[in-house]
Amino acid sequence: MEALTTAAGALVLVGFMGAGKTSSARALAAQLDCQPLDADHEIERRLGEPIESFFDREGEAAFRAREEEVVLELLARDDLRVLALGGGALASERVRDALRPHTVVHLEVDPDDAWRRASGKGRPLARDASRFRELHEDRRALYDSVADVVIPPGERGGAVRALPALRALADAPAGTRLVWASARSGDYPVFVGRGLIASGFAYPTGGRRFVVTDENVAGMHRVAGDAVAAIRAGEAAKNLASAEWVLRRMAVAGIGHDDLVVAAGGGVVGDLAGFCAATYQRGIRHVQVPTTLVAQVDSAFGGKTGVDLPEGKNYVGAFHQPSAVIVDPSALETLPAAELAAGYAEVVKTALIAGGRLWARVRAGADPDEAVILGCLRTKLAVVAEDERDSGRRQVLNLGHTVGHAIEAATSYSRYRHGEAVGIGLLAALRLSGRDALLDEVTGLLGARGLPLKFEGPSAAEVAELVTRDKKRRGGRVPFVLVQAPGEVTHGHDVADEELLAAIEEVRA
Ligand SMILES: NC(=O)c1ccc[n+]([C@@H]2O[C@H](COP(=O)([O-])OP(=O)(O)OC[C@H]3O[C@@H](n4cnc5c(N)ncnc54)[C@H](O)[C@@H]3O)[C@@H](O)[C@H]2O)c1
Repeated sequence: MEALTTAAGALVLVGFMGAGKTSSARALAAQLDCQPLDADHEIERRLGEPIESFFDREGEAAFRAREEEVVLELLARDDLRVLALGGGALASERVRDALRPHTVVHLEVDPDDAWRRASGKGRPLARDASRFRELHEDRRALYDSVADVVIPPGERGGAVRALPALRALADAPAGTRLVWASARSGDYPVFVGRGLIASGFAYPTGGRRFVVTDENVAGMHRVAGDAVAAIRAGEAAKNLASAEWVLRRMAVAGIGHDDLVVAAGGGVVGDLAGFCAATYQRGIRHVQVPTTLVAQVDSAFGGKTGVDLPEGKNYVGAFHQPSAVIVDPSALETLPAAELAAGYAEVVKTALIAGGRLWARVRAGADPDEAVILGCLRTKLAVVAEDERDSGRRQVLNLGHTVGHAIEAATSYSRYRHGEAVGIGLLAALRLSGRDALLDEVTGLLGARGLPLKFEGPSAAEVAELVTRDKKRRGGRVPFVLVQAPGEVTHGHDVADEELLAAIEEVRA
C-alpha cells in the first residue's frame, strides 16, 4: 500500500456543487489504496433520509447544524485519508478550523457547468439560476480562503494527475500552495510559497538540473542545480547569441533528455532558457523559477518562449510548457523598486482582464503581495487553458502590449523596461477603448507607483509604423485588444490608423 505523504493530514476535497468531489475522491482513494469518505453520504446515513427532504422540512439552519456535527467528527478521525466535503460545510468557522491539519483541495467548477450538473435534481440550493450564480461566487472566495491546492475548472482528472505534486508539498515550506495549470499540450504544478528557493525545493526530481540565470540573480539567489550558466542581465541579452552560448554550455555539460533546464530569473531568463529547453535536442523539460514580479504574475506561465531579433521582439520562439513553476514571493525582496514598479503594470493589466475580486484589490491600491500574485497567475493560467496557441482568447493577454512592444522596439529595447512600456501601452489601449473614467483610474494607479505615463524619444509616427509590424498582424491588419470594463476585455478589434496615431500621440511626452 502506498503511503499518503502529502503536506499534512488527509486530502479533503472542497468545491461547489457539480465540481466532481465525489468522483475525484474515489479516483484519489483508488490511487492511494484506501477508502474515500463522503460527508454528504455520511450525513444522509445518519439522518436516515435524503438531504433534500430534511432540508425542505427542517430548514437550512437545522441542516447546517447536523452537517457541522458530522463533518467535525469525520475530520477528527484517525483513519481519515480522503474526504469529499459538501459545498456548504465551510460556512462553519469550526469546520474551517478543523481543516487546518489537513491538505485542502479546491476543485473549481465553471458556474454554467455546475448549473447543468446540479439543477433539476431537487437540490435545495440549485433551484434558482441567478441565486445559484451568486452563491458560486461567494463560495469560491470561501474555498480559496482554506485551500492549499487549487484544481481549475474542466480538469476532472486533475486531482489524480496532481498527486505526485501533492506529495511534494510535504517537502515545501509551510504555507506553500499548489495551483494546477493545464493547457492542451500538457499540465503542470505551480508551487507558490515564501522560502521555496532558500529551502532548495526541487520539482520534478530526477535527472540533472542545468540552471540558467543572469548575473544579477546569480549573486542573490541560490537555486539548486548541478550546473549553472549566467547570461548578462537585461533585455539586450535575450538574443540568439546568448541562446547559442547557453545551448553549447548544455552540450558541454552533457545534458540529455532525462535532465531539466531550470530558468531562475526574470522574464528574460525565463523566455531564453525556455527557448533553449524547447530546441535543445528537439526539446527537453524545463522548470521556471521566476524572480521578478513580471515573471511571477505573467511570463513564467503559459509556455511562450523565445528571443528577440534586432528586427523585432520575440521574433524567434516556440511554445513549450514548463514541467513546473516554482514561485517564491520572497525573491522579490531583493528586486529594485523600479523593477517592482514595472511588474506592477502587468498586475494592473491582468486585474483588468480578471475583473471581480482581483480588480477590486488592485484598484484599492493593494501591494503585489502573495494574494495578488496568486490572483494574477490564476487569471493567466485560466486564459491559457482556454487557448494555448494564441488563436483566440489568449490574445487578451496582449492588452497594452501592441503599443508597448512598439515603444520598446522604437527605443532599441534599452530606454524602457518591458513593464514600463506595457504601462504606457495600457493607457493607449484604454484611450482606444474610449473608457475615459477607467483611463483616469489606471493613470492614477500607474502614476502612484512612479511608472512613466508617457514615452520620450521617437515620434508617434515611428511607433505607429512599428505597431503595423507587430507579429500578431493578420491579413495586413493588427488586431487590438480593447477594454469594455474590468473583466470584459476582448480581442480582434480593428482600429483606424488616425485613431491609433492620436492615441500614441497622447502618450508621447
Ligand atoms: N513569455 C511570456 O509569456 C512573457 C510575458 C511577459 C513578458 N515576457 C518577457 O519578459 C521580459 C521582461 O521580464 P522582466 O521584467 O522580469 O525582466 P528581466 O528578466 O530583465 O529582469 C529585470 C531585472 O531584474 C533583475 N532581477 C531579476 N530578479 C531579481 C531579484 N529577485 N532581485 C534583484 N534583481 C533581480 C534582472 O537581473 C534584471 O536586471 C521581456 O523580455 C518580455 O518580453 C514574456
